[in-house]
Amino acid sequence: MPQDRTDLQALQGLTRVQLHAHARQYYKAGGRTEPEVALVVYGEARAVFKDYARTPGWFGRVLAPVLIWREASALRRLAGITGIPKIYRQLDARGVLIEYLPATPWPQARPSEVAYERLEALVQAMHERGVAHCDLRAPSNMLVGDDGTPYIVDFVARVCRGQVWNLPWNWVFRQFVGADESALAKLRVRFAPSLATAADRALLAERGPVERVARAIGERTREIVRFFVRSG
Ligand SMILES: Nc1ncnc2c1ncn2[C@@H]1O[C@H](COP(=O)(O)OP(=O)(O)O)[C@@H](O)[C@H]1O
Ligand SMILES: [Mg+2]
Repeated sequence: MPQDRTDLQALQGLTRVQLHAHARQYYKAGGRTEPEVALVVYGEARAVFKDYARTPGWFGRVLAPVLIWREASALRRLAGITGIPKIYRQLDARGVLIEYLPATPWPQARPSEVAYERLEALVQAMHERGVAHCDLRAPSNMLVGDDGTPYIVDFVARVCRGQVWNLPWNWVFRQFVGADESALAKLRVRFAPSLATAADRALLAERGPVERVARAIGERTREIVRFFVRSG
């Protein structure tokens, strides 16, 4: 068995304390309403550990398990799609260990035209599996590899499609699919204006009331949560 494979197995078995001890870098330092997001290196193996265990107060106790469940269940539903990190292990209600993606966040990269096309196909594959991301307006949730492979992370805000009979919920789901699509239009207008079409610009200019609400929810989740944490 190659060394990196055994290292990965060992990494997947580490405890929370050991995972933090092997953190080479924190993408996010954590806060009152935020997880710690660590790059863990063990021998030749790497993984990313998203952990709310040190998030204090009722946010850490009550909301964090909901967010980790939302993230983990979406990753399981999307398993097998290239561009979505594998879930290695859910440690407990507050932490999840996922595949490390060898890629750069979209705003710091200079993605090629092909990368934008592949990102659009990835988002479509995600929607076909029944997951709307709802936070693609944060460009740091999209990454791109040196070879132009696009990746998507951070599924805490996701909305999943309901059963076929659940028409009202599936209508809501479609609004969030639309919000993801307009987030991509915004990404093109902002980072690759030469790729942005007239339709992209029109989509951003003429948002219907429903989409404005869907967008506001997707964008404002954290602000709303912060408001309640402050006043709670
Ligand atoms: N699997 C991964 N591989 C590489 N980098 C990642 C991975 N997951 C997250 N990151 C990095 O960590 C950052 C924060 O992770 P994210 O899941 O978006 O946390 P948050 O919910 O706090 O925004 C991302 O913007 C990205 O730069
Ligand atoms: Mg994020």
